[in-house]
Amino acid sequence: MPYKKKPGDAITVVSIYKSLLKPIFFRMDPETVHNRVMRLGKFLGRSKANRALIRSIFYFEHPALNTTVAGITFKNPVGLAAGFDKNAQLYDLLPELGFGFAELGSITGEACAGNAKPRLFRIPQEKSIIVNYGLMNDGCETISNRLQNAIFRIPIGLSIAKTNDPSLDTDAGIRDYIKAYRSLHPLGYYTTINVSCPNTADGQTFGHAQNLRPLLAALANEKHEKPIFIKIKPDFTEKELEEIIKIVNSYDWIAGFIISNLTTCREGLKTPKEELDKLSPKGGLSGLPTQKRSLAAIRFVHQRSPKIIIGCGGIFTGQDVIDKLKAGASLVQLVTALVYEGPGVISKINREILCLLHKENLRSIDQLKKKYHTLKKDGPAL
Ligand SMILES: Cc1cc2nc3c(=O)[nH]c(=O)nc-3n(C[C@H](O)[C@H](O)[C@H](O)COP(=O)(O)O)c2cc1C
Repeated sequence: MPYKKKPGDAITVVSIYKSLLKPIFFRMDPETVHNRVMRLGKFLGRSKANRALIRSIFYFEHPALNTTVAGITFKNPVGLAAGFDKNAQLYDLLPELGFGFAELGSITGEACAGNAKPRLFRIPQEKSIIVNYGLMNDGCETISNRLQNAIFRIPIGLSIAKTNDPSLDTDAGIRDYIKAYRSLHPLGYYTTINVSCPNTADGQTFGHAQNLRPLLAALANEKHEKPIFIKIKPDFTEKELEEIIKIVNSYDWIAGFIISNLTTCREGLKTPKEELDKLSPKGGLSGLPTQKRSLAAIRFVHQRSPKIIIGCGGIFTGQDVIDKLKAGASLVQLVTALVYEGPGVISKINREILCLLHKENLRSIDQLKKKYHTLKKDGPAL
């Protein structure tokens, strides 16, 4: 079915957000805006009439965007990345915005209040956010109870992480992951093991080989009923990344990687590092500063691993998605684009993808992947 570009719609929705709402939001504290948007989202998701209204404004689909990855069928390859809906409260609304899938969390073994406020800082000149939330969330028990009877209308992934408590040593940290895994793995379409949050109180993560090895060895003894992804940071040296790939490749129950989380690198940006440090000395950067780093890591992993890759980091346009897919990703996720472009960005990106496929004489996302992926990765993971 050829795609006929409809003028207006998605572009207009994005323009309205950028000219009316964004200037108001950007005058307010970012976390306050996030909390209010969450409250509004929960309200809108609750009733069928509200959902239908949101759908009529934002939703877009086209068969050329359909794709099957890890045995799951997706309406389009653009998903919500972890961190926006940390407590799994928007799963009713997210399908109406046009997302192909959504990752909720990260959710930890115990409830966690997160780091001290302020902990979220916009850097508009970098199209980025400094994030120092510190994994605040309601904890796996409350959230798994919340999700017991949930009906998911798009594939939902649940991201788990270690409770942000510096008193947990490696063994206690692993027990914490296992607790979250056992309560949440049965509920989502897939599970993500987030080993790359840069905002833990002690700065430690399970993303390096010496911690990742015992964590995955422990998870190997658990039931693996759904695809499992490992979310990594974009800031590895090639040697470090090679070691991570080797560890992940050795487990056939791991479906793939999510590449990537926030970057901790503050060099090479328009804004001097000192200025960013003054704004917030702690926290990882999202958005544009992660774009090239995540793309390079995707390319690197794609050449060395038969595992599926979900690309994430600095996606604002259809071209950014195509770049990630060509580099080896099978799906993509975004979050910062929602802040800078508004929720109309999802349909806008999907329409742009169709135009770009058309330009390259490609009939579908799947055909693009067939052309550019050196290893076929999209079959069932289990
Ligand atoms: C406010 C905020 C909170 C985030 N929290 C999480 C989180 O809890 N777990 C996680 O895996 N990633 C988290 N991330 C990272 C994103 O999922 C994503 O990997 C990163 O922001 C790069 O994508 P983007 O450029 O589209 O934002 C967070 C990002 C933002 C902006």
